[in-house]
Amino acid sequence: MTTETITRIERAVDAPPADAAILATGIRREFGETVALDGVDVRVAPGEIYGFLGPNGAGKTTLVRVLTTLLRASAGTAIVAGIDVARDTAAVRYRIGVALQEASIDPGQTGRELLELQAKLFAMPKQQARARVAELVDLVDLGDAMDRRVETYSGGMKRRLDLALALVHDPEILFLDEPTTGLDPVSRREIWDEVRRLNREQGLTVFLTTQYLEEADELADRVGIIANGRIVAEGTPDELKRSIGRDVVVATIEGDVLVARRVIESLPAVESVRVAGDELTAVVSDGPAAVPAIAVALNEVDGVRVTQLSFRRPSLDDVFLEVTGNRIAGAADRHGYARSSPVRGADAGRDADAARDEGSGRGADQGGTQR
Ligand SMILES: Nc1ncnc2c1ncn2[C@@H]1O[C@H](COP(=O)(O)OP(=O)(O)OP(=O)(O)O)[C@@H](O)[C@H]1O
Ligand SMILES: [Mg+2]
Repeated sequence: MTTETITRIERAVDAPPADAAILATGIRREFGETVALDGVDVRVAPGEIYGFLGPNGAGKTTLVRVLTTLLRASAGTAIVAGIDVARDTAAVRYRIGVALQEASIDPGQTGRELLELQAKLFAMPKQQARARVAELVDLVDLGDAMDRRVETYSGGMKRRLDLALALVHDPEILFLDEPTTGLDPVSRREIWDEVRRLNREQGLTVFLTTQYLEEADELADRVGIIANGRIVAEGTPDELKRSIGRDVVVATIEGDVLVARRVIESLPAVESVRVAGDELTAVVSDGPAAVPAIAVALNEVDGVRVTQLSFRRPSLDDVFLEVTGNRIAGAADRHGYARSSPVRGADAGRDADAARDEGSGRGADQGGTQR
């Protein structure tokens, strides 16, 4: 074997598999009695934006923490940028950028100070650090705010700084855990534009968790829907929506919802019906034809009154309803993003503090902090 062949073989072993930036297989994680992840398989291609969509407590952050070396899985393997996260924490951390849900930014420092500190953590020479920080300020559009203390920043500016902090060392893969939760619609769009731009212009692979349907729909090339620690559906947003049918008819009912459901189910135009509260969602082949048929049928049922009836194309929430029997709790999208950050349980809060102590997984030289 020539030296050249040996070098090539070594490269092949070292190099990440070309078809997967993230390859997680059978990931499990328990917290006491709680099974947060129950055998999760995820494959994300290089250059892809993967949206991990699920309600509060579904297991999104737990998976992000496993994939970013902050938390050890109880079972399964995760290969990130070609490296097993359980084997070489530091090497993974050099290749990934992470913006956690519970961002830990020191409010007393300026954006520039924080970025420079971050560069130092990654052992970047001073000159190079300064140049990189200047680049990032432009990239995330923070401008003059860079020299103001972070406590003066708006929520959206803090998220953009967080994004910049995750990008200091020019990672291949960016992990964003609920990057826009609690932001107003304008700031939300700004973050979306930023993520899209980074993905398109720099080829960055993005793994992002969200509980906003619209966010997954708009941003993600592919979406994995998680409920109770399991992936219940996966595909492009279009594939997922198409998988449940052509149209959905939504009827809001006063009276006996279950009787109404039986009546609708028996109609030939109707493929399936789900109940969530006082709302009936019927998957139908032809919305415009099904609406009058459903209205007439329900009108004849004693003790049932229809207060609203409409049809639309299926949404990711309809997909979620179809596979889990529930709507994505909170349904922030349907209520105009009015909700602020989710209230955290005491345990989750404690864990976030622990993550902070670990340095948020940002510095690559803080290896060996898995628990
Ligand atoms: N450190 C911990 N100790 C105990 N239970 C935990 C801990 N971290 C997470 N859990 C539990 O694991 C489950 C998944 O939590 P996780 O934080 O991954 O959900 P999530 O999808 O990120 O939710 P959210 O949208 O609210 O952020 C929940 O039941 C949660 O209470
Ligand atoms: Mg979370």
